Amino acid sequence: MDVSKTYTLNLAPRIVFGVGTAQQVGVEVRALGVSHGLVVTDGGLVQTDVPGIVTASLDAAGVKWTLFGEVEPNPSILTVEKGLALYHAQGCDGLIAVGGGSPMDAAKAIGFLASNGGSMRDYFAGKKVERPLPPLVAIPTTCGTGSEVTQFAVITDTETHFKLGIGSPFNLPKVALVDPSLLVKLPSRMVASTGMDALCHAIESYTSLLAQPVSDAFSLHAIQMIGRHLRTAVANGNLTDLTGMAMASLLAGMAFNNTRTTLDHAMSHAVTGHTGVPHGIANAILVPHTMEFNLIGSPEKHGDIAAALGEDTDGLSVMDAARAAVDAVQELADEVGIPHTLREVGVTEAHLEALADDAMKSGGIVLNPRRPTRQDVLALYKKALG
Ligand SMILES: [Fe+2]
Repeated sequence: MDVSKTYTLNLAPRIVFGVGTAQQVGVEVRALGVSHGLVVTDGGLVQTDVPGIVTASLDAAGVKWTLFGEVEPNPSILTVEKGLALYHAQGCDGLIAVGGGSPMDAAKAIGFLASNGGSMRDYFAGKKVERPLPPLVAIPTTCGTGSEVTQFAVITDTETHFKLGIGSPFNLPKVALVDPSLLVKLPSRMVASTGMDALCHAIESYTSLLAQPVSDAFSLHAIQMIGRHLRTAVANGNLTDLTGMAMASLLAGMAFNNTRTTLDHAMSHAVTGHTGVPHGIANAILVPHTMEFNLIGSPEKHGDIAAALGEDTDGLSVMDAARAAVDAVQELADEVGIPHTLREVGVTEAHLEALADDAMKSGGIVLNPRRPTRQDVLALYKKALG
């Protein structure tokens, strides 16, 4: 242990995990003193039985609710402001987010606007979230974002294509309700992309300059669980492996909530902001390249990642063990069907300069184990473009 360092850990105050737990959302929301909740979800989920599970539980607990089911992937300023208008118009006093990262992040933003005031553009200009949000309960329906236990709300300015992560301990949901049975109908390509997103969270957290012993424990265990469960979760969609992935995503979320993400997410946010490529896909295409770049900044930790993914690193040199982590991640991405190159998902040479500019604006850059220059980032994009 390094005696010169002090550590602070922020965690969601209450985490309820297990098959069927979504059905207790009404009780959890009522216990927080909410009388009328805004249920924030996305257009795809509205077509499924998931919102019905939530609203039936709210009804049973005597909690009034209003549905806001318009959150799009990479939620925009406009969507957040629309949700806020509905929140006020209906006299809501709490939020229930149901979905992947997009509805959860949109709900956090609606919440901080409701209690902190200002417009989304003020926060893009540097305004801070300094007051508690209305009670927020988060129910994830993917196995990747970890947003149910993080303090970050990632919102896109559709005019500039810039994605901003607005962080504050006040954004942490009061309750994270993680019910793996909600993942059973998730298409296998979504299990793959969101599962790879969780792996990126864990890898970036483990190698972040803000890593600390507790976050290391969370992130390394998450990597191990993803190595064990992701392939079979994608192949079979069975509840055992999906439960493993739900736990891994939760652990990785708790880890990066305290360490932030680093180079890979800095670069992927720029890609998704400019091109609309799904978040997990962009991360997963980039991560072998960002890991390879980072090897010399954190060789031992990359060796740990290789071992956590099941590679036999006994007898290898530190750098050979580190390189085994890159190969293991590339192999996993290939096996679960992640495209190899950014070109395959619609990125072109014409995007690269703007992507490099936006990636360099991310707060995660300075936490990366190897400090990249803009030229480094541009070179990584060129490599990943294929
Ligand atoms: Fe992510």
